[in-house]
Amino acid sequence: MDNLDWRNLGFGYMKTDYNVRCYYRNGKWGRLELHSDEYVPMHMAATCLHYGQEAFEGQKAFMGKDGKVRVFRVEENARRMQSSADYLQMQPVPVELFVEAVKTVVDANRRFVPPYGTGATLYIRPLLIGSGAKVGVSPADEYLFIVFVTPVGPYYKEGFRPIRVMIDRDHDRAAPHGTGHVKAGGNYGASLISEEVAHKRGYPGILYLDSAEKKYIDECGTSNFFAIRDGKYITPHSHSILPSITNMSLRTIAEQELGLGIEQRKVEAAELPTFEEVGCCGTAAVISPIKSIYDPQSDHTYVYCDGDEAGPVCTRLFHRLQGIQFGESEDSYGWMTEV
Ligand code: PLP
Ligand code: COI
Repeated sequence: MDNLDWRNLGFGYMKTDYNVRCYYRNGKWGRLELHSDEYVPMHMAATCLHYGQEAFEGQKAFMGKDGKVRVFRVEENARRMQSSADYLQMQPVPVELFVEAVKTVVDANRRFVPPYGTGATLYIRPLLIGSGAKVGVSPADEYLFIVFVTPVGPYYKEGFRPIRVMIDRDHDRAAPHGTGHVKAGGNYGASLISEEVAHKRGYPGILYLDSAEKKYIDECGTSNFFAIRDGKYITPHSHSILPSITNMSLRTIAEQELGLGIEQRKVEAAELPTFEEVGCCGTAAVISPIKSIYDPQSDHTYVYCDGDEAGPVCTRLFHRLQGIQFGESEDSYGWMTEV
């Protein structure tokens, strides 16, 4: 792929050579199939189309400094997709099948893994959809598991530069006892309006508060929220946020290597003025340091960075995490799987 401008890739879809698919039919998963077609033949009454019986995952493959291709914590994504499947009454994909599918599709698209040093990665998008026809509201009898890949650059064009974020108090992405803790496609459909409102006002990021009381911080539209204060890594605990694998990994690094205390608890929005550094984290975002948070209710902006430099803790966390992912520093926790 000599003609690709790897350093200037955005976060978008690009056709690659292959995707993998597997059907659940007649009570069992079939064989993994390699396809080059980007389209999916679909029954018009498939439950994913009208009842939103759909869940997805997001993960990345990295070209290491040593020329080896590795994926990050793939079993964790497999388990999270199982929990999404449970909630949405879909047939869970066995962990071994999920891992095999990811390895197969990355291997088949090796020429699309961005070169080491460009900062770009191969984004992996597994999805599970109800493909069986139903008209009454009930789970499908057939499911389709697909994994496709596409090379990506940074999710926010700022990259590791701090971004401006706005609180949205007018829309909720998930109900207090709803689907926020699973990766249901519907959560993202419900968040598009907030993204639109924020973008129109010039904010690349959204911060959601809890939908019952608007008192606690939940998460950002596509990433978890964390804050640093008094030697502690503080991150919200809530039923309506997605348990981020990046956040889980940062907690490990923060505790074991940076000696920070970890607080995973309800975090009041009233604490916002007290934080030293804040950021959002996720597969696509990696760590996006937050420069400022605008609260439309008080018309106040909380500012965390003077210029365009991330704070010292965010910077150390970012470099250690990316160091592990790109094979530059020791994978002390066994998070990487070679493909
Ligand atoms: N929260 C939401 C709503 C997300 O979409 C994502 C992205 O996957 C995350 C958090 C971060 O999760 P992870 O670190 O596992 O990618
Ligand atoms: C991810 O970080 O993988 C996400 O799922 C975020 C997004 C692009 C939906």
